[in-house]
Amino acid sequence: MTKRSISWKLVSCLSSTKFSLNVLCLVVTVFVILQIWSFHISLQPTSLPPSLRTYLNHQQHQPEQISESETAYLVDKLRESVTFLPLKDLRFSNKPLEGHTWFMSSLYDNQTKGEVQYQEFPSESSKGRLLCLKGVDEHDGSWNYYALAWPQALPVNASLRKGLTFVSYNHYNYGNMWHGLSAMVPFLAWSLRNQCENPQTWVLYHWGELRFGMGNWLSNIISASYGREPEFLRFVDENRPVCFEKAVVMRHNEGGMSRDRRMEVFDLIRCKARNYCSISTSETSKPKIGMTLLMRTGPRSFKNESAVISIFKRECERVQGCELKVSYSNNLTFCEQVELMRMTDVLVSPHGAQLTNLVLMDRNSSVLEFYPKGWLKLAGVGQFVYKWGADWSGMRHEGSWRDPVGEICQFPDTDRRCMSVYKNGMIGYNDTYFGEWARSVLGKLRERKMEDVVERSYGYGSIDECRC
Ligand SMILES: *[C@@H]1O[C@H](CO)[C@@H](O)[C@H](O)[C@H]1NC(C)=O
Ligand SMILES: *[C@@H]1O[C@H](CO)[C@@H](O)[C@H](O)[C@H]1NC(C)=O
Ligand SMILES: *[C@@H]1O[C@H](CO)[C@@H](O)[C@H](O)[C@H]1NC(C)=O
Ligand SMILES: *[C@@H]1O[C@H](CO)[C@@H](O)[C@H](O)[C@H]1NC(C)=O
Ligand SMILES: *[C@@H]1O[C@H](CO)[C@@H](O)[C@H](O)[C@H]1NC(C)=O
Ligand SMILES: *[C@@H]1O[C@H](CO)[C@@H](O)[C@H](O)[C@H]1NC(C)=O
Repeated sequence: MTKRSISWKLVSCLSSTKFSLNVLCLVVTVFVILQIWSFHISLQPTSLPPSLRTYLNHQQHQPEQISESETAYLVDKLRESVTFLPLKDLRFSNKPLEGHTWFMSSLYDNQTKGEVQYQEFPSESSKGRLLCLKGVDEHDGSWNYYALAWPQALPVNASLRKGLTFVSYNHYNYGNMWHGLSAMVPFLAWSLRNQCENPQTWVLYHWGELRFGMGNWLSNIISASYGREPEFLRFVDENRPVCFEKAVVMRHNEGGMSRDRRMEVFDLIRCKARNYCSISTSETSKPKIGMTLLMRTGPRSFKNESAVISIFKRECERVQGCELKVSYSNNLTFCEQVELMRMTDVLVSPHGAQLTNLVLMDRNSSVLEFYPKGWLKLAGVGQFVYKWGADWSGMRHEGSWRDPVGEICQFPDTDRRCMSVYKNGMIGYNDTYFGEWARSVLGKLRERKMEDVVERSYGYGSIDECRC
């Protein structure tokens, strides 16, 4: 085929009335031009197979022809030139979460101020190339790989996965409610801005290691939000890469997202979860003021539950319309948790994953958090996640109580070794403090409820496509 005949075909096809055909033509055009330009060649069909040097020599007196076998040959070369790099780049193990991170470290995120940081393939920045993944390792992410490839020249042995795939990097654990949810938030934010686009497949990584599931609570959140259970990709064979027709990669959790953007996502989660569980949204179906003690068992549970319950019961009874509920997070189903949170204006609970449920309360609800002895100095910034979570989802974190009494550690208070002693400690109580605290929170809440003549809504903003 001559260049002219190609151009003619393209012109006639571009002038076609069908939009989808036009797009296809455009893709083909770009590919053909790329083929010609990137190699700066155009050869006689007879000169096969020449080295690159010969190519360049021929460049001066280009005959206007490129044969089909020549194109096939070049596509083959392109296919073979796809290079897989380790998903986990050990050069960055001292700063695994910074910037381009140690996960797919050669690629940069799309960073728009206030928006979620993500990568999309194919895209302008990938020059139209698809993301391909390879490897079956569940223990060391440097034995799993990624590469970019043009759809016309996928790597040898690769299969193409149709539809949209979400590729998630989680530095922590998909089984933990909070850490799992943090990894999912950016995908929901992306979908909100992309016509609610829904993934066919998920690929989960922790430090580049494959994971094939998430906790039950989180799996329910995803099912509720996307209207289907998440399906996790299983790679069959380490020599068989999978390339994705369309992939979105997240490796920064909520990082970069403005408070408004985060709030939008939690509004969506809350609303979708309530719909999923068929929970009434009418104001009359809930108490005027709902106070819930969400108990733990084992580590970080209250040492004397009946004493703690009686304090909050006493304070709740003093406020007209207040109803107290005591529940155990360990034996509530997902929908029972959603319903319980819908009824809750004041959540009273020890520090722990069950507090993730706070995002499911109506906006402006209150959270009271409790820690055993020793956490403030030793537990690192991770101990503040529910304070942040409350802020991000539009709740009020009303402070924390830290037990001054607890396990005895043989080392000084600030010694890291003490954390293992304090980590699983239990929590006591202070009648005076808890009483005053509850009274103050309930008092402010009552005032707000009287001011808010307008019933508290979920507070949806400007997103039309995903409004639920
Ligand atoms: C980055 O994201 C913004 C929207 O968030 C989009 O308009 C822009 O095209 C993206 N840039 C690239 C290079 O993908
Ligand atoms: C393609 O798959 C075959 C069969 O599994 C294997 O022998 C071959 O090495 C693979 N080729 C590449 C480049 O991985
Ligand atoms: C719990 O506290 C109550 C009230 O202060 C007290 O009567 C009871 O003995 C305590 N129970 C335990 C097991 O310490
Ligand atoms: C839930 O668990 C708590 C603590 O283990 C237990 O006391 C309670 O009876 C359980 N409730 C149900 C309905 O199983
Ligand atoms: C209990 O809390 C009150 C009020 O904050 C405080 O004055 C008191 O010292 C606390 N008691 C104990 C034993 O820590
Ligand atoms: C939450 O409280 C603030 C301040 O009291 C108020 O401005 C806002 O409207 C409330 N939000 C909702 C969703 O009720």
